[in-house]
Amino acid sequence: MPSLATPFLLCLHLLAAALWVGGMATFHFAVRPAAVETLEPPQRLRMLCGALGRFFRWVTAAIVLLLATGFSMVALAGGMGAVHWHVHAMLGIAVVMMVIFAVIRRRHHAQMAEKVTAGDWKAAGAALGRIRQLVFINLWLGVAVFVIAVVGRSL
Ligand code: HEM
Repeated sequence: MPSLATPFLLCLHLLAAALWVGGMATFHFAVRPAAVETLEPPQRLRMLCGALGRFFRWVTAAIVLLLATGFSMVALAGGMGAVHWHVHAMLGIAVVMMVIFAVIRRRHHAQMAEKVTAGDWKAAGAALGRIRQLVFINLWLGVAVFVIAVVGRSL
């Protein structure tokens, strides 16, 4: 019977990737624009700050899962020297995404939370603007990883 380890790891890997990339798309294309349309700045910024804080905890878990499942699959395949170039590209772009995520969470989201608590809506809005730009970059890097992961393996 063939080993189910790699398909099982790949399944967890894809669930983690879908949570991160899909969550960014939901925030960017649906949650933030709807909040801008319907809520005044104090409610909007408080709500978005809380929603982002909760989402970022799930992203951290997804990153741990992506790294654990990704490197386990690499180990089962015989190490980094034995895998196809698309896995190297996936890892490289994923590391860039993780650094951007760390900057969003540690710097800009922390700043936003501080300004929301202080009731400084202008500064909180400016921090949210920077988060939005960086999430947009990470969203497209995530899409690029999906394309490289799926199309790249056949090239
Ligand atoms: C944002 C981060 C990531 C995303 C969106 C992502 C996405 C994907 C996708 C869509 C596949 C399925 C490819 C296929 O079977 O056609 C895959 C497979 C895989 N990923 Fe990732 N991945 C990410 C991070 C990582 C990391 C950090 C590693 C660590 C080395 C990794 C290693 C692997 C490996 C070894 C496979 C199996 C490759 C194969 O059998 O062709 N991935 N990934």
